[in-house]
Amino acid sequence: MTNKQVYRMTTTTATETTKKVRMTAGERAGIPPRRMDFEFGEDTKRYWYADNSFLTTFWTTLSALFPEGETFFVDTVKNYRHEIKDQLLKDQVSGFIGQEAMHSKEHAAFNDVAERNGLPTGTLDKEVGWLLKLGRKILPKKLQLAITVALEHYTAILAEQLLRDKRHQENISDPEALKLWMWHALEENEHKIVAYDVYQLVGGGYFLRTFAMLLATVFFFVIVIQGHARLMWADRSLFNIKANLKGLWFLWGWKGLFPTLTFKYLDYFRPGFHPNDHDTVQLLDDWREKMLQDGGMLADQIKNPSHAHMTGNTSAA
Ligand SMILES: [Fe+2]
Ligand SMILES: [Fe+2]
Repeated sequence: MTNKQVYRMTTTTATETTKKVRMTAGERAGIPPRRMDFEFGEDTKRYWYADNSFLTTFWTTLSALFPEGETFFVDTVKNYRHEIKDQLLKDQVSGFIGQEAMHSKEHAAFNDVAERNGLPTGTLDKEVGWLLKLGRKILPKKLQLAITVALEHYTAILAEQLLRDKRHQENISDPEALKLWMWHALEENEHKIVAYDVYQLVGGGYFLRTFAMLLATVFFFVIVIQGHARLMWADRSLFNIKANLKGLWFLWGWKGLFPTLTFKYLDYFRPGFHPNDHDTVQLLDDWREKMLQDGGMLADQIKNPSHAHMTGNTSAA
């Protein structure tokens, strides 16, 4: 089913239920921004990922990059919003903006807990903010958008892995943290085509797209590795050899997170690549059912519950 067919189905449903629920643009496009308000309290576990300091600080490093990072993604797409005439893409962009804004907010709350545990997530957040502010000033807008497209590919394949590989769900021992990461993973895949399609619409080409990916990869790993080391230092676990080896093996060893992602990462360099080439339709349907239906992990969490059961899917190939 094409995106347009999915859209038409969704809008038909919208017309039928106009009286009951007034749908937002994002919801019409199958990218519903779900308002969350997670409660990360004092009882959030210190080592919430696999009881392991290395892996917990690794995921916390990624979380520290999200508020500023995702604000940048939104801004780079907004730069081209006025050029979008197609109603479906307009609605998809609205959904993308709404979802990313909510991710930034919830990850900021999650990062505050880490900060209270002595991890300098606020400092990492500020530094990323400065770097991206500089990027906004000195880089051409098309390259900024291409960087977003590249990093959205990262988040999409990483998020897909979180949803597919049961080890992640078993390893996240804190229930609120589990909700946060799975909700974010679901929505990253719901909107994975948006920045890419805007980039194509405004004439973005292969060379810039792949150049931006190489640039983003270098910056991503430098920022993550040094940020992770500083978090471990603050956590006094930088020299915990046993935990570090275990964590390194989980990320880089046989069937580790990054080796598993290698082919999906490299696929980005194929001319003609499109995010929908990685089929996540069934995966997202399963997770929406698991999380959003009555009794699901997020059922009581959503602050705009009338839209919780949205099943429109922009990943339809
Ligand atoms: Fe996000
Ligand atoms: Fe995203």
